[in-house]
Amino acid sequence: MPYETIAVEPLSPVIGAEIRGVDLSKPLGNQQFQEIHDALTEHLVIFFRDQEIDLDQQKDFGRRFGKLHIHPTAPAPDGHPEVLIIKADAKSKAIAGNRWHSDVSCDAEPPMGSILHMRQLPPSGGDTMFANMYEAYDRLTEPMKQFLGGLKAWHESEHVHRGTLGHTKLRDGLTEWPRSLHPIVRTHPVSGKKALFVNSGFTTRIEGLSEKESRAILDMLFDHVRTPEFQCRFRWREKSMAFWDNRCTQHYALWDYFPQSRLGYRVTVCGDKPA
Ligand code: SIN
Repeated sequence: MPYETIAVEPLSPVIGAEIRGVDLSKPLGNQQFQEIHDALTEHLVIFFRDQEIDLDQQKDFGRRFGKLHIHPTAPAPDGHPEVLIIKADAKSKAIAGNRWHSDVSCDAEPPMGSILHMRQLPPSGGDTMFANMYEAYDRLTEPMKQFLGGLKAWHESEHVHRGTLGHTKLRDGLTEWPRSLHPIVRTHPVSGKKALFVNSGFTTRIEGLSEKESRAILDMLFDHVRTPEFQCRFRWREKSMAFWDNRCTQHYALWDYFPQSRLGYRVTVCGDKPA
């Protein structure tokens, strides 16, 4: 379907498109909302430039796509529990997202999408890579697709949120670090396409295989996900915004700018149980 209210410029043939003609500080009309939704379905991650928006406007945009997610462990800005602070500076020992991952896949219903608005950037670097998990699935051989099709894997969070990022407090209502068992291949509820759904950030173990078998298969899949032909690379500018679909992509935040600072705010949209 041709777009009428937005312009869509692909970053690569497989993933990513820049969207023009949208001012996210204003409420979206239904037609424009539908076209942004369709562009996300088509390109898996979409980018906007020069968006002068505050946290409330960012949350309003996110809410057009669903209920907002509250992170299980990360501290939030005062008055905005649905906002995740993405921050790195000279004091950082680790940063969020510096591994290939799909956001919070440890949740029983992992987020559908994430919307990151960039406020401050280093003089150079700090790009984010995105990879297409439909493509990752499609490029597997038929015997491997058959094998993985019946399997599930554990997605755990304690090693990431407590271990790497040093979070100490669970969200109210949680009594343990989230972990969930998800199918290795999931079907996207909107596109109907199959996507590979294991990531090196959260996925720890394939259910039903021995430790050795599980490690070998996961390492092979994590390596496969890193195939450059599945990827695009986004170069941020201040006030850029990215919106990615966690059900069919993974991303990797580069940390090539230490000790410089980078600051953004992420709003995350709830998703459903992978099937
Ligand atoms: C993330 O949400 O995983 C961080 C992405 C980024 O900082 O580019």
